[in-house]
Amino acid sequence: MDIKQIFKNNEKWIAEKLKGDADYFKNLSTGQSPEILYIGCSDSRVTAEELMGVKPGEVFVHRNIANMVSNNDLSAMSVVNYAVSHLKVKHIIVCGHYYCSGIKAAMESKDLGILNPWLRSIRDVYRLHKDELNSIEPEDERYKRLVELNVQEQCVNVIKTAEVQKAYFERELIVYGWVFDVHSGKLIDLEIDFDNILKQIMEIYRII
Ligand code: CO
Repeated sequence: MDIKQIFKNNEKWIAEKLKGDADYFKNLSTGQSPEILYIGCSDSRVTAEELMGVKPGEVFVHRNIANMVSNNDLSAMSVVNYAVSHLKVKHIIVCGHYYCSGIKAAMESKDLGILNPWLRSIRDVYRLHKDELNSIEPEDERYKRLVELNVQEQCVNVIKTAEVQKAYFERELIVYGWVFDVHSGKLIDLEIDFDNILKQIMEIYRII
């Protein structure tokens, strides 16, 4: 790809936006009030805004390898804190995707250097759901299920934060677990039963 082309694309995009609304960028510069926090994978195929059909200003986005919400990751924790406490988002989406190479790598026994500690958190998800996962054949289906269970556990990690627990008491805030199927382009709501999951774990994780 010619990097210079990107600046040409940008000029074209500006012209198109201004044609539709002469004040588009002026309005955009006044501030943001997104209602959605989207936490997804860095994978180049899983573009947050494009797959959801949303515009600039509508979604606060955090992406990393395999859409992880680790409590020792200052970046993810800051994003959740800012989105919930300051932007007051109403929806938090954790979106994984099938064919995720981060998930795949965590299923293999390989030393991947600096990636090891990152992938270890995914291996922890595998360990939590080992019985279910080990009973799934073929391996492709197990791989898909780990993608889904990882989304579920990252949603739980979101709910473990003090900001989210506080917000649950004070206002409307909903957490969603989704998967994007790269093969069909479909966005799938996993319809995770948080009430049930929370009942089992809040005794341990409640901090508010
Ligand atoms: Co991925």
